Amino acid sequence: MTPEAARIQTPYLVAEDELDRSLRPRRLAEFVGQDSLREQLAVAIEACAARGDALDHLLLAGPPGLGKTSLAHIVAAELEVPFVHTAGPALERKGDVAAFLTALEPRSVFFVDEIHRLPRALEETFYPAMEDQRLPITIGQGAGARVVTLELPPFTLIGATTRTGLLTTPLRDRFGIQARLEPYSVAELAVIARRSAGILAVELEEQGAQTIAARSRGTPRVANRLLRRVRDFAEVRLEGVLTAAAAERALEMLEVDERGLDRLDREILRTICEKFDGGPVGLSTLAIAVGEEPDTLEDVYEPYLLTEGLIKRTPRGRAATPAAFAHLGLEAPPSGGPSLF
Ligand SMILES: Nc1ncnc2c1ncn2[C@@H]1O[C@H](COP(=O)(O)OP(=O)(O)OP(=O)(O)O)[C@@H](O)[C@H]1O
Ligand SMILES: [Mg+2]
Repeated sequence: MTPEAARIQTPYLVAEDELDRSLRPRRLAEFVGQDSLREQLAVAIEACAARGDALDHLLLAGPPGLGKTSLAHIVAAELEVPFVHTAGPALERKGDVAAFLTALEPRSVFFVDEIHRLPRALEETFYPAMEDQRLPITIGQGAGARVVTLELPPFTLIGATTRTGLLTTPLRDRFGIQARLEPYSVAELAVIARRSAGILAVELEEQGAQTIAARSRGTPRVANRLLRRVRDFAEVRLEGVLTAAAAERALEMLEVDERGLDRLDREILRTICEKFDGGPVGLSTLAIAVGEEPDTLEDVYEPYLLTEGLIKRTPRGRAATPAAFAHLGLEAPPSGGPSLF
């Protein structure tokens, strides 16, 4: 299953696109957290606006739901330029790229989501376009073929990726600004939950915001999802006010534990700990054992389990840490944990 499909099937990661859109911060000032990146962008945007230039090409990397698409929209809004949106897998032929690039208005933001899924053959089309605003295209075939170079308007390519590792170095190097979005702190997620509650016009108590934030696995999209689930619960079962108790009961019902782990997270840990004696176990074997796609495990589940120190990546696969055994209430193997090498 692709990460996109995973979001559709995983109850609280459901891709409620409409909700995402309505809660999306519109300006840099509304964007919570990622302070150094925000500062860096604010300076770059101001400098470009003053010069009337296009902003440097920008690469945004990080796990799903951390705000890459939101930031791309924000950059265009702050620059007051058009926003043109596509995704790596949607671009199949050189002509697709040419059609987008030649139609751009000067200084536009051209957003390519999932840029790591751009066909390899097309990457090279981007090199001269990014570097010199030129697009050489071949017209005709065989002996009569000739190359015509199209001049492009200045533009900003914003690439988003959940996997920087899959980007080739020549493509990555052509982004003047390369940013990695980091998981959010509980305090930041509480601010995001309160902001979203305001937009949804629900009453969220401070403690309720903290409870949601603590279980949002560092991810704003998850905070917004949980907020909605908790709101449903509070409306149906309680007086509509989102207290800490309401949040806790709702999250219990959703099987999201106090560390923000859901059923599949725990299943992954339990599988490594019990079936594979703490690991290491290869990603694809693990994926089969829990009935998920390797990509989904790697993109959606693993980053949080790694940040939480519950699993480790080793050359021979994934291994559970003593913290994982403790979280599941299991006894860690003697010798202070599984051998990692
Ligand atoms: N810094 C932030 N401040 C406030 N809300 C945020 C922030 N980042 C993300 N969000 C919220 O989380 C939702 C998901 O963010 P977004 O769609 O930008 O993530 P993404 O990184 O593009 O995810 P994906 O990799 O799945 O495309 C947004 O709709 C927005 O409501
Ligand atoms: Mg996105």
